Amino acid sequence: NIKAEALSILANMTLAEKVGQMAQISIDMVCKGVDTPPTSTIELDMDKLRDAIVKYHVGSILNSPNTRARSTGWWNNAVEAMQKVAMEETRVKIPIIYGLDQIHGATYTAGATMFPQEIALAASFNPSHARKMGEITAYETRASNVPWNFSPVLDLGSDPRFPRQYEGFGEDPYVGSVFGSELIKGYEGDDNDIANPNKLAACMKHFLGYSVPYSGKDRTPAFIPMTTLLEYHVPAFQAAVDAGVHTVMINSGIINNEPVHASYDLLTKLLREEMGFEGMIVTDWEDINKLYNRDRLAINIKEAIKLGINAGIDMSMIPFDYVEFCTLLVELVNEGQVSMDRIDDAVTCILVVKLKLDLFNTPNTYAKDYPQFGSKEFRQASYDAAADAITLLKNEDNILPLKKNAKILLAGPNVVSKRALNGGWTFSWQGEKIEEFASEYHNILTAMQAKFGKENIVYVPGVSYSDATEYATEHPDCFDEAVAAAKDVDYVVLCLGENSYCEKPGDLDDLYLNDLQTDLAKEILKTGKKVILVLSEGRPRVISKISPKMDAIVQTYLPGLFGADALADILAGEVNPSGKLPYTYPEYPNSLVPYYHKRADEQENTDSAYNYKGDYNYEYPFGYGLSYTNFEYSNAKINATEQTLKSDAEIILTVDVTNKGNVEGKEIVQLYSSDLYASLIPDVKRLRRFEKINLKAGETKTVEFRLTQNDLSFINMDNKRIVEPGDFEFQIGASSADIKSTILFTIK
Ligand code: IFM
Repeated sequence: NIKAEALSILANMTLAEKVGQMAQISIDMVCKGVDTPPTSTIELDMDKLRDAIVKYHVGSILNSPNTRARSTGWWNNAVEAMQKVAMEETRVKIPIIYGLDQIHGATYTAGATMFPQEIALAASFNPSHARKMGEITAYETRASNVPWNFSPVLDLGSDPRFPRQYEGFGEDPYVGSVFGSELIKGYEGDDNDIANPNKLAACMKHFLGYSVPYSGKDRTPAFIPMTTLLEYHVPAFQAAVDAGVHTVMINSGIINNEPVHASYDLLTKLLREEMGFEGMIVTDWEDINKLYNRDRLAINIKEAIKLGINAGIDMSMIPFDYVEFCTLLVELVNEGQVSMDRIDDAVTCILVVKLKLDLFNTPNTYAKDYPQFGSKEFRQASYDAAADAITLLKNEDNILPLKKNAKILLAGPNVVSKRALNGGWTFSWQGEKIEEFASEYHNILTAMQAKFGKENIVYVPGVSYSDATEYATEHPDCFDEAVAAAKDVDYVVLCLGENSYCEKPGDLDDLYLNDLQTDLAKEILKTGKKVILVLSEGRPRVISKISPKMDAIVQTYLPGLFGADALADILAGEVNPSGKLPYTYPEYPNSLVPYYHKRADEQENTDSAYNYKGDYNYEYPFGYGLSYTNFEYSNAKINATEQTLKSDAEIILTVDVTNKGNVEGKEIVQLYSSDLYASLIPDVKRLRRFEKINLKAGETKTVEFRLTQNDLSFINMDNKRIVEPGDFEFQIGASSADIKSTILFTIK
């Protein structure tokens, strides 16, 4: 048994060797050379590598030098050299574990298959895409000799100001649970047998409550009551623990005045004892040091290390000064400030993951054994996910699909931007290196030219993302030129949104789409031409200044390397759009309320002088999306309208859905429930199940949802999950705001 094996290795280790296993460093610490393409000579510095691995027993390395994608061969050689040193030149011969952020495909490996980001996968409401992305990413990551992936992101996407919203599965805890578990199963396999060289160790992150700081800005404080943490933030992590995930990364932020990295209550009591997580706990970047130099909780680095390790951290992503970490942690143990038991527990968790990956017997994997790397089949899977995710938000007078041979103006900064389609963590940290590595893929311009004919497409960017001078210098009349060009075409496809970003560089002061883009939209709308707004953005930027006049709106999210192709197919009518919003699209920057809000005072001030439209106002509701066909719901039924409390009998609901239009299409059928009265104010509704079905024109299918009383439970004031007797309303619908049938259900 693996735990026993880990304990026997541990029994033979010195304190310094144990502490070294708990240290994770950045690859920059052991590299030398010039990292400038095309003559990048970056390579390992063997002296530095030996210093880290042999002298200080460092057990883990992460990152790509200067965050740049490498060929599989580069990775193979680099990691193999590290393993050779670790396994041949150290006394204990423990392999290192290498980790990367391959969050929407093997993003740090040149030539790998990049998928839509998690937010787009969620919009497909088809969890099989998460499974596929996991499988392909695991395979392509192992092709480059890396066995550990810092993914999935399970942070709740309920605040669109937060710059990492796109990395998660949106605002709903149930959607996050389903997609997160599928992604983990894709990475680790159904049986979590990560010794399989096609699988890797997943890392759920960032535990816990990372995504809702009150400033909306990354790594700033949050105030979250325990009931809220347990009700909305924990479920996706709990589902991941239940799915057997091997590792977890901790939230860099501060909750209720306590940095999570120093929280014994969250890391040990909640995560380990209550949620039953048995894997390895790793910090985020430099976060132990931040307990001292940011949070002022510790008076020096030594105390910071003590707080973090005693709270329950197993491995510190230091990632630079490992000598300091290792020296101070040894001192802390010798002084009795950190117990040897705590160190032993941490190292056991680390060794178990290394053993489960079979790194002791198979420290390396080789590109030659991964012939499907970057294959057509993998690329098709990425395209399929994008095509299933892109969401049609508006289609006045069925203006879409576009007519064949129509003249189309493409305008906006996203037309030629692959960054805008892929987002951050794509080949490089901020996604800015994409043109170097993705030259063969389409942007919106080339995809539209390929689909509609070059002769039918006019392209004038009009504006850039933020800096008017950038384009003004090269194209003095670019803005006016775009407006003028609009006059000579049948349609304008206006491609707006965001450039790629992640973490703090993505912080925002204003959720409105920026002025340059908004102004361009307003001027183009004045021409009276039919305008289709295509959004590519990591979070819903407020568009209410321009949306009412748009003829159509298409949300692409961050659809990945084949997103432009999927978009062109949708605009041409070759693919019927079928995504739905995995978040509430806010109408104003101060209408940031998820669909599962609490009931508010009904006496809203609707006096227009206050410009206030209510407590829950949205541009588009959660779960919303249109199709080129339409669906009718009928015959909603339940197997029994009441149950006694604690019954574990299944509640079965069925509904018939018919495609009433002339084209085949997919519908996402959603089941919500409302607890009508409860001892803690109930949410207006909660998504309990969803199913995506494909219907030919005229076809009817019966959708069945199965659940139990447990699905109607909530966290009460004592932080306990309970089911209360009383009345519930089940709601079956096409979105959170488009309920087709309601059924009353009672628990006695
Ligand atoms: O995994 C990431 C994390 O999501 C943000 N900080 C850096 C880590 C390692 O790259």
